[in-house]
Amino acid sequence: MLSCLLRGGCSPLLCLWALLLPPLVSLHSMNQHGRRSHSAKERPKLLLVSFDGFRWDYIDRVPTLNFHNIIDNGVMVEHVENVYITKTYPNHYSLVTGLYAETHGIVANEMYDPVLNRSFSMETDSVYESRWWEAAVPLWVSIQKAGGRSGAAMWPGSDVKIHGMFPNRYLLYNASVSFETRVERLIEWFSAPNEAAVDFGVLYWEEPDESGHKLGPESPLMDVVIAGIDEKLGFLMNELKKAGLYEKVNLIVTSDHGMTQLSSDKIIELDEYVSRDLYTWVDKSPVVALLPKEGKLDEIYDKLVDVNPNMVVYKKEDIPELFHYQHNVRIMPILIAAKEGWTVMQNRTGPFMRMYSKLI
Ligand SMILES: *[C@@H]1O[C@H](CO)[C@@H](O)[C@H](O)[C@H]1NC(C)=O
Ligand SMILES: *[C@@H]1O[C@H](CO)[C@@H](O)[C@H](O)[C@H]1NC(C)=O
Ligand SMILES: *[C@@H]1O[C@H](CO)[C@@H](O)[C@H](O)[C@H]1NC(C)=O
Repeated sequence: MLSCLLRGGCSPLLCLWALLLPPLVSLHSMNQHGRRSHSAKERPKLLLVSFDGFRWDYIDRVPTLNFHNIIDNGVMVEHVENVYITKTYPNHYSLVTGLYAETHGIVANEMYDPVLNRSFSMETDSVYESRWWEAAVPLWVSIQKAGGRSGAAMWPGSDVKIHGMFPNRYLLYNASVSFETRVERLIEWFSAPNEAAVDFGVLYWEEPDESGHKLGPESPLMDVVIAGIDEKLGFLMNELKKAGLYEKVNLIVTSDHGMTQLSSDKIIELDEYVSRDLYTWVDKSPVVALLPKEGKLDEIYDKLVDVNPNMVVYKKEDIPELFHYQHNVRIMPILIAAKEGWTVMQNRTGPFMRMYSKLI
């Protein structure tokens, strides 16, 4: 059986934004001389936490006492909509810029920029090239420019120099660094004396996305993973309390996208319909991005558009406005959106399928 994958579309996916007291107040705490009008201690503090791929219904799958504790002492929004497309990089950059992917420029985890003639992949060092990120200004940069301080633990983009700046305190991305270590660093940064303390922190954790990909979100084995996330949240709350930060730091817990169960019976193989020689494969299912070879756009489109009702093939100019996913050179001339539960690939024995089989 094939594992799961991110789901396409823009349905409500995420469950959870919880705010703790004290209420958020303006981050503009500079006086007319451009000096900080409050000491670091008085300035409001915010920690933004993302558990990757935390699907909207996970919170009720198993007892999640720590999540419910936050909800009882704060607020929970009815739903959160991810931006199109449902991938980690675009959505995490939207969370810290307030912009759609077509505007902030991180349009996918795997991208090609025809102007730069460069490829971006979350699997390579290309993520460290500033130019991919600089159409937008992430919150940590805005806050630092306004005289505040920020700290980042593994949030996508937070170890990249953007507009000439890194967060004041940050960790280089390393998936092997435990959640607990990430939390401990953030606690240190928030607790630093006076002006050295950060005002804003971001914390990223790869789960439950990683297990969701391997097991499929509907797998009963996910229950243990979800319970584990609740424990991690408990660890965070406890550390905040121990450090005397619980009453001082606003906390937002959220996620980037949901997941849907896939099946090896629901695969569409593009090789059956169109030769690979006609295009470059830029990004994978559930929203496949193809760059046609010169003069081949119409041929590819015509060959694919009607072959299977479980995928929708768009020419770039026909991508629906409501996706806000069109006005950027990094969005490819052909986009193929798999319908929920379906996977589009080149063929079942290609590298993409092997990658997914490995994960089962
Ligand atoms: C784009 O870069 C590749 C190498 O990565 C090079 O072979 C190709 O000629 C470049 N294309 C253009 C139009 O500059
Ligand atoms: C990543 O983190 C692990 C665990 O802390 C550590 O052993 C490893 O050396 C780190 N890798 C790099 C490249 O820093
Ligand atoms: C599938 O793709 C691989 C290359 O990725 C190729 O070697 C193989 O022949 C293809 N299989 C079929 C059935 O077309």
